[in-house]
Amino acid sequence: MSAFCARPRDESPFFLLAASPRQGGNTDTAVRLFLQGFSRAMQKQGNKRTKAPPHDAAYADMPEATYLRSYRIEPCVSCNACAASAQRIKHAASAETLLPESAYAPFSACPLTNRDDSSPLLSLLAGAAGLCIASPVYYYHLPAALKALIDRTQPFWALRDAGITPYSEKKPRTCYAILLAARSRGDRLFEGSLLTLKYALRPLNIQLAEPLLLYGLDAPFALSGMPEAMRAVVAYGEEAGKARLQPCGGKDVAANPCGALQA
Ligand SMILES: Cc1cc2nc3c(=O)[nH]c(=O)nc-3n(C[C@H](O)[C@H](O)[C@H](O)COP(=O)(O)O)c2cc1C
Repeated sequence: MSAFCARPRDESPFFLLAASPRQGGNTDTAVRLFLQGFSRAMQKQGNKRTKAPPHDAAYADMPEATYLRSYRIEPCVSCNACAASAQRIKHAASAETLLPESAYAPFSACPLTNRDDSSPLLSLLAGAAGLCIASPVYYYHLPAALKALIDRTQPFWALRDAGITPYSEKKPRTCYAILLAARSRGDRLFEGSLLTLKYALRPLNIQLAEPLLLYGLDAPFALSGMPEAMRAVVAYGEEAGKARLQPCGGKDVAANPCGALQA
């Protein structure tokens, strides 16, 4: 809706979300390897830019992992408070004015945000310069806590349904996705998770990069015994690190998942 003018936001840090309920399992290992690759990219770039040792500037942008299991997320109860808030934001805005700040944090109208820890995570999701979500597959989908967080992004859809699209004029952002599963094969193993991620990120103008799909990881330390898969995660982190330094890109492939690595 052209009546509303979007204001670009300052770039925020890279948001790396580790979504396994299991501490020290395969997802946590993948997150560590991803960070190794990310750091390698920063280091190379630092060397290229300054020919100086790769500390200081090169590492200033290093992301930190956020472990979803440390946060309490209440499930959406479909109370429609976000839809009503989106309508209020719509009426408050006018052609000449900038969008009210609440349009950038529509979830603040959700009554559940006062009762749980979702707010900082939703803020990061909304404002991060780039993202990576690492998650195990649970019953062909995402674990409950991650799904609960995703359902709580409904205020972004409510805003978009009201015709307010503060993120559409921002440069598209990319979300990297590392999905891990125990089964050693299955063309549709990751399909549900990828579709959900794709459409949850859409109102935020975040595109899903080609995901890294890891098969055959059952026991908690399985990934540590698969050197090829470990290298793939490091390479994926390096790709994300490079893109972080030159933001943009990221192919949307959720409808046709690839990049799978089988045991
Ligand atoms: C409740 C539950 C459901 C699961 N469902 C699936 C599934 O549908 N397909 C599959 O291949 N693996 C499934 N798994 C296995 C996990 O995806 C796999 O063990 C993964 O490596 C766990 O990652 P983590 O070590 O980071 O927790 C499931 C595990 C649990 C606990």
